[in-house]
Amino acid sequence: MSYKERLSDLQRDGSRSVTGQIVDAIESAIAAGELAPGEKLPPTRDLAELAGVNHLTAARAYRRLAELGLVAGRVGSGTFVRAAAPVAGEEPRGTSSSDASAWQHYVLPEDRETYGDRMLNEMFQHRDREDVIPLMVGYPSPRLFPRVRLAEIAAQVLSEEGDRALQYGDVDGVPELRAELARLGRRWGGVDQPDEIVCTSGARQALTLTARAMVRPGDVSAIESPSFVAPIEALKDAGARILPVPMDDRGLDVEALEQLLRRHEIRVLTIQPRLHNPTGRDLAPGRRERLVELARRHGFFIIEDGVYSDLRFEGEPLPSLRALDPDHVVYVDSLSKTVAPGLRMGWVAASGPVLDRITREKRNDDMAGATLSQLMIARYLAAGEYDEHLEGAIAFHRERCEALLGAVDKHLEGLATCTRPSGGAHLWLELADRLDERDLYAEAHRQGVTFLPGTAMVPGRPRSTRIRISYCYLDPDQLAEGARRLGVAIRAMRRARAPREAAPIA
Ligand SMILES: Cc1ncc(COP(=O)(O)O)c(C=O)c1O
Repeated sequence: MSYKERLSDLQRDGSRSVTGQIVDAIESAIAAGELAPGEKLPPTRDLAELAGVNHLTAARAYRRLAELGLVAGRVGSGTFVRAAAPVAGEEPRGTSSSDASAWQHYVLPEDRETYGDRMLNEMFQHRDREDVIPLMVGYPSPRLFPRVRLAEIAAQVLSEEGDRALQYGDVDGVPELRAELARLGRRWGGVDQPDEIVCTSGARQALTLTARAMVRPGDVSAIESPSFVAPIEALKDAGARILPVPMDDRGLDVEALEQLLRRHEIRVLTIQPRLHNPTGRDLAPGRRERLVELARRHGFFIIEDGVYSDLRFEGEPLPSLRALDPDHVVYVDSLSKTVAPGLRMGWVAASGPVLDRITREKRNDDMAGATLSQLMIARYLAAGEYDEHLEGAIAFHRERCEALLGAVDKHLEGLATCTRPSGGAHLWLELADRLDERDLYAEAHRQGVTFLPGTAMVPGRPRSTRIRISYCYLDPDQLAEGARRLGVAIRAMRRARAPREAAPIA
């Protein structure tokens, strides 16, 4: 009798538990060689169906087999017969760190890690490696951090504010910071009332809380494509179905959105209308007004992400989209790209019931932001130091952008094109050939350079191979060398592909 037959013939009224019988069936199949080392076992749902038990019982059986050292789980791949079952007495079963936690694979719900998540993780890992030039990394350069001034202000806040600096603060942020952020927001319009602002832990938390406040599982959301991964993840985590809306040189294709609205009722659209990551483009005048008009007519929210909007080195400054309609547009921003991301100083501006919901989500999430950071930033902004700092940051980004554009011209000629950004931190390249981006990533890594693969930023099926490379983190000589290595990697991929393509059809 095969182990599968044994599993479908369990004794319900026997002295041995059903879980125990499943374990016995698989254990003896392994001992008899019916299940070979490395062989994949059925997923827990299939095992449950086969044995006529529920999913938890099947998971419990695999957990027990893992504790016995007979099987091992691999994240995202399944459960396998261990290559060499430990000899009894050689090593206490289930005590090595991997065995001790192996049971978690069977009881945790299905993993939702996405390609975007994995790529962000990759970014953290390669950030400071000496042998790799991380063109992938979109962190601001530490050279820009106002470290000395922040150290002085931190000391002042701790001595002058005393316990207040270390106590829980207001859910929506300390009043002096909200007043300063409103003053900052008055320059671009739309974010000018302190009581419409909720301070958050970076723009990322602002996106997460806003998505949670607006979206319920199954709701439809539209998102400009390409887009930074955070809004994609925030909406997906809130259970939204995501529909991409393409962009062109003038930003979001509002006509394509109109067509989408004929077929779908959407709850929210997320967009970066100024200095978009990764393209560095703006939503063109005319389209801005039309977009807001569509939101009014169809009754959906716009989440406007403005984290790069102060880093403009070309073109005329544009007002925030929220200035056109504060009731339909929720504005998200942070000082991560301009001052220092480690402060985790973000905010969201909204009005009406959605503001109450965002505040409630903030309370449920982490009670309140870091009081010390908030008091420090309030003083930094009140002292008027932001504008001067920003001037330096813009010049810094302009110089690095020119360096990378020059290197792309020199080393990627004929291999890739990109449009000139008006600001921000990134270049969005389109490769001349359609290459497998994972293979290209592996080759680039071998050559000592990384990039952000385009599909991590495209919430749909991309039509060509796109990659993001960033100029904000590295110095000009590193940018030049990174582009050179990228050119070597792309050429190597082309060469590897060419013979297959040229081969005669048999
Ligand atoms: C477009 C965009 N929005 C939001 C964020 C998140 O910013 P923060 O670091 O303030 O959470 C980033 C970070 O890279 C970003 O590029």
